[in-house]
Amino acid sequence: MVVQVPAPSGSRVWTSWQILRDPFAYWERARARYGDTFWLETFNGRIFCTGDPALVAEIFKADTTQVRPFRPEAFAPLLGRHSVLMLAGSAHREQRRLLSPPFARGRARVFGDVFLDVARTHLARWPDDGTIRSADELLSISLEIIVRAVFGILDPAEVTRWTHEVREMVAAIDPSFLFFPAMQRLPIGPWPRFLARRDRLDASIYAEIRRRRATGQRGDDVLSLLLDAKHEDASPMADEEIRDELVTLLFAGHETTQIAMAWLLYHLARTPEAMAAVRAEIDGGDGSAEALVRAPYLDAAWSEALRMTPIVPDMLRMTTADLQVGPHLLPTGTNLAFVAAMVHTRPDLYPDPSVFRPERFLGHTFGPHEYLPFGGGVRRCLGAHFSSVEGRVVVGAILRAFDVTSLREEQPARRNATMGVRHGVPLRVRRR
Ligand code: HEM
Repeated sequence: MVVQVPAPSGSRVWTSWQILRDPFAYWERARARYGDTFWLETFNGRIFCTGDPALVAEIFKADTTQVRPFRPEAFAPLLGRHSVLMLAGSAHREQRRLLSPPFARGRARVFGDVFLDVARTHLARWPDDGTIRSADELLSISLEIIVRAVFGILDPAEVTRWTHEVREMVAAIDPSFLFFPAMQRLPIGPWPRFLARRDRLDASIYAEIRRRRATGQRGDDVLSLLLDAKHEDASPMADEEIRDELVTLLFAGHETTQIAMAWLLYHLARTPEAMAAVRAEIDGGDGSAEALVRAPYLDAAWSEALRMTPIVPDMLRMTTADLQVGPHLLPTGTNLAFVAAMVHTRPDLYPDPSVFRPERFLGHTFGPHEYLPFGGGVRRCLGAHFSSVEGRVVVGAILRAFDVTSLREEQPARRNATMGVRHGVPLRVRRR
């Protein structure tokens, strides 16, 4: 049976611009007009788009020989050719196998203490009574967490140097050259500036890899585990492979978590009942990382913040084999998008979807195709657990130490594939 899918005509430039500028509003309008599934013409070509959970479930069943990342080339100069984000097929499977042990659930306890330590050091410097741009503060925290937990840098002076280098490189990533790779040929402007900072960070990473190999020094950090990881043929990972994965983890992990934490603070600050429930829960505990991770309402609030404002509202793939998605046969070479922003706002799954209501997640587990802030299937986020431990520990530590008031309404704003916060979630903070 052939099922007709709406294929609205319209300017591809206008459609692309709307999705780039405000994907949440765009996907909502598109669903109202065309239903859950439709074709769109964009400057990335024709895309099969769906926010139908049943079809999303079908897409999540596809393996990496059937779908590959959509145009990963733009990210190659940043991430490198070994990056798990760039690869498809057996090479992707192999990198995921190597990268999975550092992110196993059992390691949350190890990381939780690092997260709490970093958060407390930063919170000691916050004003006793004043205003902060919380996104900036959370960026400092999440970058230092990556430097310590992923790169394994411990010496305080070195942590400062690394955090500075990482921050400079991250600040030089300009969405313009990711969306318009032609800009990567320009000899002046953001591209050469980015290359210079990338090369400086790379030099530090390679020096650290060599130093650790020479001294045999190991810790609980991700780099330590990668240095000892073995390929299927028992060979160790090459330096270049380790570099590419470390930069991938930095790129995929720091800003996503920073923004998610900013949204969680924002939604709580704007929802007094939810804030009261979180406070009652965390004030009753001993403030340890373990207690914060075990706080069920805080966990539900984290999930609800990611439902309402997913950091990656839509995810793109290209089929590398004919793919049956429900009643639709997508031939090899089809672009497809599954849209978290549409799934997460379905009233049949989430009544009153625009209301922040953590209770939805208490005692109820949504299926992977119904709740997808971390994507799903063979490319599901490797850092999902790591980030949710980070989010709960850092936000829990903030709320134990400070009363917070939201100072203005916030809106999502485009970063790259991710959506950031337009105004940086300014907060009034008062030490308790
Ligand atoms: C709240 C925080 C985070 C969010 C919302 C998030 C979201 C996502 C999403 C949606 C994907 C899938 C993209 C796609 O299917 O196209 C993804 C993939 C990935 N994420 Fe995260 N992420 C977060 C934190 C992290 C952290 C902390 C790390 C590691 C330190 C990480 C590492 C990765 C990696 C390596 C992939 C690629 C997996 C693959 O291609 O096989 N993420 N993330």
